[in-house]
Amino acid sequence: MNFGTKAVHAGVTPDPSTGAIMTPIYQTSTYVQESPAKHKGYAYARGANPTRNALQKSIAALEDGKFGICFSSGMGATDAVIKLLAPGDEVITSNDLYGGSYRMFRKIYEKFGIKFHFIDLTDVNNITPFLNEKTKLLWLETPSNPLMRITDIKALTTIAKKNNMLVAVDNTFASPYLQNPLALGADIVMHSVTKYLEWP
Ligand SMILES: Cc1ncc(COP(=O)(O)O)c(C=O)c1O
Repeated sequence: MNFGTKAVHAGVTPDPSTGAIMTPIYQTSTYVQESPAKHKGYAYARGANPTRNALQKSIAALEDGKFGICFSSGMGATDAVIKLLAPGDEVITSNDLYGGSYRMFRKIYEKFGIKFHFIDLTDVNNITPFLNEKTKLLWLETPSNPLMRITDIKALTTIAKKNNMLVAVDNTFASPYLQNPLALGADIVMHSVTKYLEWP
C-alpha cells in the first residue's frame, strides 16, 4: 500500500456489529460482560475502545511500527515514554525542543531524579561526552519546534544503540509522510496529531 492508501484504509476493518465500512465513533464507557472478564475485548473505555484501536492501528501502519498507542494529547504520549525510565536514569535531548516537552522534563521529571542533558544535536559528535552507563534515552525532535533544526536520526541512533539506549523521536513537524524514524533505527515515534500536515 502506498502512503495515501494506508492513510485511508490501514487499521480499519468493517464494523462487526453493523458492517459500517469506516469505524464508527464509539462513545461507550462500559461494555457488557457475559460473565466476569468474559467479553468481546472491550470492558471499559479507558482500557480499550474500538475507535481508538482503529486509530492506533492506522498510525502504527503509517509509521511502519508494530504497535500504536493514542493518548488525548501529544504530551500524554511523551509523559508515557518518560515513565519507562527510573530515578537515576539520564536522557540526552536537544537544546531546541517543543516548550511543553522542555517544561515537562525540567519541572516534573527532574524532581523524580531523572537527569536531562539539553545539547546541540545538529552536530552528532556533541553527544559523546554525555554518554555513560546511566544514559537510557535519546529524545529527538527533528525538525525542531521552534527553530526547525535538523538532526541526523540515523547517525544518532547508531551511536545510541552502541550505548544500549532507547531512541524516541517526536515526528510531529515532519509527519510520517516526510520522515520514517523507525526505518532509521528509532524505537519509538510520537506525534501531536492536531498538527498533522496536509500532504500533497
Ligand atoms: C513538536 C511538538 N511536540 C509535542 C507537542 C505537544 O502536543 P499536544 O499539544 O498534542 O499535547 C507539540 C504541540 O505543539 C509540538 O509542537
